[in-house]
Amino acid sequence: MKVLLTGGTGYIGSHTAAELLSKGYEVVLLDNLSNSEEKTVMNIAKVCGKLPKFVKGDACDAEVLEKIFTDHKIDAVVHFAGYKAVGESVEKPLMYYRNNIDSMLSVLEAMKRHGCNTLIFSSSATVYGEDNPVPFVETQRAGGCTNPYGRTKYFIEEILKDAAKADGNLSIVILRYFNPIGSHRVGYLEEQPKGVPNNLFPYICQVAEGKLPKLNVFGNDYPTPDGTGVRDYIHVMDLASGHEAALRYAAEHKGAEVFNLGTGKGTSVLEMVAAFEKARGVKIPYEIAPRRPGDIAECYADCSKAKEILGWEAQYTVEDACKKPLH
Ligand code: WQD
Repeated sequence: MKVLLTGGTGYIGSHTAAELLSKGYEVVLLDNLSNSEEKTVMNIAKVCGKLPKFVKGDACDAEVLEKIFTDHKIDAVVHFAGYKAVGESVEKPLMYYRNNIDSMLSVLEAMKRHGCNTLIFSSSATVYGEDNPVPFVETQRAGGCTNPYGRTKYFIEEILKDAAKADGNLSIVILRYFNPIGSHRVGYLEEQPKGVPNNLFPYICQVAEGKLPKLNVFGNDYPTPDGTGVRDYIHVMDLASGHEAALRYAAEHKGAEVFNLGTGKGTSVLEMVAAFEKARGVKIPYEIAPRRPGDIAECYADCSKAKEILGWEAQYTVEDACKKPLH
């Protein structure tokens, strides 16, 4: 099976590429390198021993997509391409709506022109918003998003459901990621955020590397066991295997289906700090800072649907993710 990964040199895309290649899939990566580097293509080969094909280009560009689908018999698409910085989306909503929705529509139109009916979409737990009780489950109302980034994911989910209703040949799997962390054990594929990281895990990594002086813990007065924010941190290699399970499911099922990809376990900021310190034998200095606007107290998954239907569940722990990669 030949799979096109849009955004394929990104953090989750590259790990999924390595997973698919190691399981015998053929992989074509499309990426405009706006938030990743071309050297990742070789790094994927270092990790799995197989080299994906790489096309530099934008998933919004119909001509680029047309050439890919003409040059390759694409059996399925995994759509990772999109901007994903919550804070930036608040400052630049039009850029987010244009890029994230336009790229999805362009990919769907190219798929239709070429008779490709299988799509895995990279969605996010952020679509659950703040008015659902935890653990979040797929049957809960989505759309109560607190930022434009989350709304692009929610709007695309609705577009995909409508597309599947209109075309019975489509097989669409929507994967709602919780908080991705870690990297492939071998190394080379660690997340490389540009500038100062927004997310907790890469921020802690940079404190450990001495690139940042200390961690600011955004609030310790939440209604959680230790007062700090609780999230469901899922190892990126578990996310990668979840995409492969979704491809196998999509090969047997038509229509659009939503699955949570998480661990089902909540971890607080201070618990993450402690796990990281233990795994790496380092001290992570931190200070309690004011809450970050838009943050919710708790976010973690009910993953029973993915376990029952996809036969998938997370294998790695937060402690596994905190271990330093070999290279
Ligand atoms: C986690 C916890 C912070 C940084 C976001 C997006 C979500 C998804 C994952 C794309 C919170 C605390 C953080 C720091 C801190 N992205 N924190 N100090 O906000 O749960 O989710 O990334 O799909 O859509 O919303 O992740 O890592 O930013 O924060 O105390 O310097 O760590 O308050 O409790 P978040 P995060």
